[in-house]
Amino acid sequence: MDKIYIKGGRELNGEVTVSGAKNACLTLMPLSILTDEPLKMRNIPELSDINTMKQLLNSLGSNIQSDRSMGFLQIHTKKISNHVAIYDIVRKMRASILVLGPLLAREGRARVSLPGGCAIGARPVDLHLFGLEKMGAKLDLKDGYINASVSGRLQAATIEFPSVSVGATENLIMAASLAKGTTVLINVAREPEIIDLCNCVNSMGGRIEGIGTSKLVIEGVDSLKGTEHKVIGDRIEMGTFMLAPAMAGGKVKIKGCSPIYLRSFIEKLVDTGVDIEFGDDEVIVNRQNDYLNPINVVTEPFPGFPTDLQAQMMALTCLARGKSTLEEKIFENRFMHAPELIRMGARIQVQGGMASVIGVASMKGAPVMATDLRASVSLILAGLASKGETLVSRVYHLDRGYENIEKKLLGCGAEIKRVA
Ligand code: EPZ
Repeated sequence: MDKIYIKGGRELNGEVTVSGAKNACLTLMPLSILTDEPLKMRNIPELSDINTMKQLLNSLGSNIQSDRSMGFLQIHTKKISNHVAIYDIVRKMRASILVLGPLLAREGRARVSLPGGCAIGARPVDLHLFGLEKMGAKLDLKDGYINASVSGRLQAATIEFPSVSVGATENLIMAASLAKGTTVLINVAREPEIIDLCNCVNSMGGRIEGIGTSKLVIEGVDSLKGTEHKVIGDRIEMGTFMLAPAMAGGKVKIKGCSPIYLRSFIEKLVDTGVDIEFGDDEVIVNRQNDYLNPINVVTEPFPGFPTDLQAQMMALTCLARGKSTLEEKIFENRFMHAPELIRMGARIQVQGGMASVIGVASMKGAPVMATDLRASVSLILAGLASKGETLVSRVYHLDRGYENIEKKLLGCGAEIKRVA
């Protein structure tokens, strides 16, 4: 099992370009099921989650061509040869549930394994099923699978989500795009990855209005065409890399994503006293002060502070001058990085969904263990800012969401390498 070795305490200077957004790809790829023409995508990152989604779509009958060096991926689902998303694939990557809406819309039937929970929470899919049932789908849960069917076409409906869900919003957008009639989705998630999905659907001949707002009006069409789409940059990767110079010192330019997608996060980072310059699709982070101000963070659906940057921001607060708090309101168990940061000398207290951090002057490198995707990268950030050596194990978590992270950080002067 690979590990990542870091010799910390060095300033970072240089330039990094983020890859395409993992969480945009994981909904754009199943979107290909909605058309029998090729869907061509650019700016696709080389990540294990993307490979798992390719494996799943392949198993359903999609023809997949990719040129990794160019970040190019073409998915051509001429016809569906299999309607079952098996547990073995779904358990590896929960976003597999996003084939459910498209399969129902295209074929009227699907058998998709329940994804089950993961390290950060139970991850139910009741909101996905709630919406699809409103559109006429018959759903029966048996032997850990969702057996879904609809006689004829899915029917448009007005669906108000009781709570905001990124995945449920994505499944329903795709289902409604081919349904009969005009669907109204209320209280939808507004993440940039959903805006990217809606823009792609409309470029395929779909008719979605209200993009980026909490209410979407989707006029179902009889069919969608293929298209060519460039995936937006990964805002979570951008935020993660912004924290590297903020914590370790130095000046780094991060390119490839619009900073408007990170407004809440950037507001907090500015509050810590870090200097940030803005471009259209780049930022320059410059750690001028010799101290960081403490902050209070609450995670919320977009445009609030993203839960996917909570672990990384916690790593920064460990070095702030004073007491910070981080309240995690999206997932029930997303503080597993705390015990590992404590091993590096951090002072953190976790009480339910609230973490309190008393900043320390410095942390010390140590052997630590990654527990989930974003926790693993918070340990890398802490290692870069700590004196001594850090060895992060179970980095397969990291490879799910960060393409070539050690290469990108090496390019900024970090002493980091992957060891088998
Ligand atoms: C997406 O997960 C992202 N994953 C997550 O990123 C991200 O943390 C999350 O949105 C929130 O922004 C992908 O896009 C592939 P949700 P998703 O449905 O869709 C509850 C990462 O690190 N809920 O918005 O699963 C749920 O338990 C990953 O890249 C229900 O109760 O998130 C959670 O508490 C981690 N019923 C909250 O809603 C449902 O049917 C938000 O979940 C669905 C969700």
